[in-house]
Amino acid sequence: MGLTNPGQKISPEDHARRVREMFARISKRYDLLNHLLSGNVDKQWRRAVTEKLRPLIPANASILDVACGTGDLTVALFENTDARAIGVDFCRPMLELAARKYPRLLLVEGDALQLPFGEAAFDAVTIGFGLRNLSSTEDGLKELRRVLKRHGRAAILEFSKPTVPGFRALSTAYCNYVLPRIGGIISGSRSAYRYLPDSVARFPDQEALAGLMRDVGFDEVEFQNLTGGIAALHIGRRV
Ligand SMILES: C[S@@+](CC[C@H](N)C(=O)[O-])C[C@H]1O[C@@H](n2cnc3c(N)ncnc32)[C@H](O)[C@@H]1O
Repeated sequence: MGLTNPGQKISPEDHARRVREMFARISKRYDLLNHLLSGNVDKQWRRAVTEKLRPLIPANASILDVACGTGDLTVALFENTDARAIGVDFCRPMLELAARKYPRLLLVEGDALQLPFGEAAFDAVTIGFGLRNLSSTEDGLKELRRVLKRHGRAAILEFSKPTVPGFRALSTAYCNYVLPRIGGIISGSRSAYRYLPDSVARFPDQEALAGLMRDVGFDEVEFQNLTGGIAALHIGRRV
């Protein structure tokens, strides 16, 4: 069973609680499984975010990495740009792992749907594999926009829809059958790794996410498919 059954309606509060508890449960195995299940490709995806953002942000930019989890994207931003990067997440065990791995990182406990920052506080915001987990994608995008300075950039790294049909079938089979089994055995929570493909299937595809970004007030929206569209990197500018 996933976090929610198809068609089941739960309140935003229940959704948040279930997601937070799920990440707390798998936190100790999260990094290992990320690297194992993606064959280390996840590292290249996070690097793509820093490479895409670097020429678009000012020197010494302030970047907020939302849903930072164990901090791998936050630290990639910190190390590969001259930016000051802050990570925010609402799951304390994930943040504790980030703090242990990267003692120099600035980390804040907070909800992506009610970020504990004022308006127009950051030159850029990033969210890696976080947006899909929010109870409302649209509200998440609005909140990312709120904390961005005018003309600041949002970078969204998320699983998406593979673009090549044969590859899509392979990837779906891998996500539906292999991933929950291996993820379940190693993390002890099969439901968390069942939730992953379910949540990806429910999430807007590349074009739809780009459209949602425009709807909430981003322009210069573009996306880049990563590994044949298994993941995609969307960039937008706050109008
Ligand atoms: C799949 S992990 C991604 C972590 C990290 N960004 C990465 O690239 O590995 C998703 C993270 O989103 C966080 N998250 C989910 N919903 C959230 C919310 N409403 N507010 C803050 N963090 C949230 C979870 O706690 C978890 O750490």
